[in-house]
This record gives sequence, C-alpha cells and structure tokens, in this order.
Amino acid sequence: MRIRGAVLSALGAARPYSESRPVRTRELELDEPGEHELLVRIEAAGVCHSDLSVVSGVRPRPVPMLLGHEAAGIVERIGSGVSDVAVGERVVMSFLPRCEACASCASQGRTPCEPGSVANAEGRLLEGAYRLHDGEHVVHHHLGVSGFADHAVVDRRSVVPVAHDVPAEVAALMGCAVLTGGGAVLNAGQVRSGETVIVVGLGGVGMAALLVALAHDGVRVIGVDANRDKLRLATTLGAHEVFTPEDVVTSGVKADLVVEAVGRAVAFETALNVTAPGGRTVTVGLPAPDDLASVSPLRLVAEGRTIIGSYLGGCVPARDVPIFVDLWRRGRLPVERLVSARIGLDDLNAAFDALADGAALRQVIVFDEPSGDSSGDPHLETSSKGR
Ligand code: APR
Ligand code: ZN
Repeated sequence: MRIRGAVLSALGAARPYSESRPVRTRELELDEPGEHELLVRIEAAGVCHSDLSVVSGVRPRPVPMLLGHEAAGIVERIGSGVSDVAVGERVVMSFLPRCEACASCASQGRTPCEPGSVANAEGRLLEGAYRLHDGEHVVHHHLGVSGFADHAVVDRRSVVPVAHDVPAEVAALMGCAVLTGGGAVLNAGQVRSGETVIVVGLGGVGMAALLVALAHDGVRVIGVDANRDKLRLATTLGAHEVFTPEDVVTSGVKADLVVEAVGRAVAFETALNVTAPGGRTVTVGLPAPDDLASVSPLRLVAEGRTIIGSYLGGCVPARDVPIFVDLWRRGRLPVERLVSARIGLDDLNAAFDALADGAALRQVIVFDEPSGDSSGDPHLETSSKGR
C-alpha cells in the first residue's frame, strides 16, 4: 500500500533543521505484513530525543530511515502466524522487540534482547525484513517501529495491546517516555517509601520518571533541569523542590535514588554528585559514544553507592505497560500532561529544533482518521485530534 511518512536521508544536518530540512514527508510503498507481523494504522507518535539523536548523528543509523519509535495505533491486518492480537485492537509500539528466546530476554528486562538489538541497529524488523520501499530503494525501519507515518508494519513482538479506554496519545507515550522514565524509578531504581528521588533532565523521559515517582506513596521528589520552564511545569505537576543543575549541587541536597534522563555526560556527573551515601544513580540517557564522564571510585567505595545503567528502564513492555496503564486509570499518572504540542508530519523539522533547544516536552504527531476506506474494521475509534 502507499503511505506517507517522514524520511531522514542523511545524518548530521546543520541547524536550524527548519532550514536544512533533514526530514521530509514522502510517499512510500509499505509491504503486506509477514507471518509474524502486523499492519498498524498509526494514530499518534511522540517526538523523542532518540529520534533527534539519529538526525544529529549522535546515534548513527542506516539511512534512508523512516523515523519514529514512540507510537500507538489500531491493528488493521495480521500475519497468518499471529493469533494473540486481533484486528481493531489498539497497540502500544515498543522500540525494542523481544525475541523471548535469547539469554537477555530471560533477564527480566535487565539487558536488551540480542536479536532485537541487532535488528534495530540494522534498521530491519525482528525477523530481518524490510517492508518499506521508495521505488527500487529500501527505506530502513527505526527501532522496529517507524511511527512517523500513517501506517506501519511491525513485528508482533514490537507491540503491546491496550484497552480502548487508553487514548492514543497516552498509549504512544507509554511506549518510550513512560517505560524508560517510569522503569528507571520502579525497576532499575527500585524506589521505596520514605526515599527522596531526584530526576536530572525533565524532558518527556525525565518528566515521566518524575510523575511515576510522585505516584509512589511517601516519596519526596526533586526535579532538576537547565530550562526554567521545565522546572515550573515540574512544580505544577507536584515536584516538592526544583533546581537548576548548578543550584542543586551547591544546595547540598542529596537523594537515595537519582535518575539521569538527559543523555549528556555532564548531566550524569550532576546525577552522581547529588546521590546520597548508600544511594543509587540510574542512568537512562543516551549520550554520544565519545562523551565521557569522570567518576571518583573512592567516593563510590567510601559511600557505598551504586551506579545502574538501564535501557528502557529495565522494562519488559508486556509486563510493565499494564502496570503504568493501571496507574494512569487510577488517576495517579497523568501522562496527558507530558504532551506539549500536537503537530503534523510536516512540522517535524521545527519540532526537532524545539527539542534540541530543550524547549519541548512531548510534541505528538496526530494522524487524522481515514475516511472509512482502508480496513473495513468496525472497531475503529474516534481519536483524531485535528491539528
Ligand atoms: N542538566 C540538566 N538538564 C539538562 C541538561 C543538564 N546539563 N542539559 C539539558 N537538560 C535538559 C533539557 O532542558 C531537557 O529538558 O534535559 C532535558 C532532555 O529532554 P529531551 O530532549 O526532551 O529528551 P528525552 O526525549 O526526554 O530523552 C532523554 O533519554 O531516551 C533517552 O535518547 C534519550 O538521551 C535522551 C534521554
Ligand atoms: Zn524514545
């Protein structure tokens, strides 16, 4: 079928992106889903720093690539080997497929699925397929999702079904911001009542970590960001205290659990500096490979501290999405508050500028509902937001 999607054709474009325009909306050919794959009509897709890191070249990936890894949509067709997801279901995309057969998949989320990581690095789906084409040329998949398009073909093991009461935007943000930030607090960080939590970096991922920490009874939560608008929002959302990175270090405030969600070594150093004796520093940001931090091993030993690196917050999406959905349903996790703008595919370059400036929280691409042609599926929900 013909689809419209946002394709990156070269890494490392000059800023501002609104002028260099590294991402362009294109018409592409999308193949039918394979045996273990699904065709999903995308309803909403969040713009995350990990998309920007591909654009900027901080995380190099094969191009051309159809970006977007935080998305949700409605299943329109299923492969012949799929029996546990039905047409018409809403699914959360997960950017790290799980083969459920490798040693890492047996680690309960501690380490990333090995075949899933290889497929992601190569820009393929989990079983090796490329389903996107521009004429004769392959267009790579982004983290098995490629959600910046009106439709996507994804592996069954790249999605988690959710009930229809979870709005598409909330479902989309569950897949990356909430799993990564929330998982850092609950899984990797193992937060306990009575503890203080500091979150360094209040973008979509860090603000989700802050919300999940606030949802935990008896936890004191402190937000740190270089952007004062983020600090104001964190206060509105319930943070007990907020600081700039400079002020938090001079204030002497320390926490039992510190989550770094910036993706820069300097922020990791801030996180280390504000971790209390006996505390845990969880890092989920993805800096450039040559961005190195300095650590005092002596302080680690003398203060009995722990550093934890965590991809996807140590989450197993099928296990953890329902936990976060339950928190959301009980009114304890207002994921909607993470949406700072609703945009269209053609606004992506400007959206990447805003994200690079630290000025955006989650900018979400919303897709208009089709005019009743493509699937014939009776369960399609009204979720289009217009623009
Ligand atoms: N100290 C504290 N905060 C900082 C600093 C710093 N030195 N530098 C930047 N920030 C803030 C920005 O102001 C912004 O609010 O960090 C935040 C980063 O947010 P986003 O760019 O929205 O990133 P997000 O999508 O949340 O991802 C965070 O997690 O998954 C990874 O690749 C992702 O490394 C990225 C990180
Ligand atoms: Zn992401």
